[in-house]
Amino acid sequence: MATLEVGNRTIGFLLDTGITYSVLTSFPADVCLVVGVDGNPRYLLDNPDVVRGRSVLDIGSGCGATAIAAKMSGASRILANDIDPIAGLAITLNCELNKLDPVPILTRNILNLEQDKWELVVLGDMFYDEDLADSLHQWLKNCFWTYGTRVLIGDPGRPQFSGHNIQHQLHKVVEYSLPEPTRQENNGLTTSTVWDFRP
Ligand SMILES: C[S@@+](CC[C@H](N)C(=O)[O-])C[C@H]1O[C@@H](n2cnc3c(N)ncnc32)[C@H](O)[C@@H]1O
Repeated sequence: MATLEVGNRTIGFLLDTGITYSVLTSFPADVCLVVGVDGNPRYLLDNPDVVRGRSVLDIGSGCGATAIAAKMSGASRILANDIDPIAGLAITLNCELNKLDPVPILTRNILNLEQDKWELVVLGDMFYDEDLADSLHQWLKNCFWTYGTRVLIGDPGRPQFSGHNIQHQLHKVVEYSLPEPTRQENNGLTTSTVWDFRP
């Protein structure tokens, strides 16, 4: 695994189709609150048909792993959205590391904006706060009902997700076992699941 250092911080990784999920654990907490617990990048790399030729919005993109995976898997249009400008920097650098043209990045809070038309919306490990979970839930419902957008949610089983009303509207797509280093870094999390949201 190749990483990109700025000062003493590792803020980039080299993604290729041979990665295991643990590659994403190189991300430090200040770039992305938790690392390597979203199954979406792995899922999109393993199942390019899900994104090929489709427009894809990655909300809370963090290091950009899912957006990069979508690009590698042939998405026709991608927007990486994250309110943290450092995430925007990491995404640009990660595209460069992966020899990809930069993906467009939006650092505004998209949840305050009206939905655009996307064929696929992906998000990973975004349900770590109850208010954010409620806003996301409402916004994703609007996307689904207005445009028929497919929504894939990656989550390692955080309480704000497992205990949320959204649970009744989820269908399991795939569950990944987290590698030992990722488990150790994420206190007790052992798996990550990708869910299809169908309200
Ligand atoms: C736990 S990280 C997950 C990052 C990435 N999806 C992953 O799994 O590696 C959550 C990310 O969501 C971003 N975020 C929080 N609230 C947001 C919002 N309203 N809109 C977009 N991004 C948001 C944070 O800045 C952070 O990068």
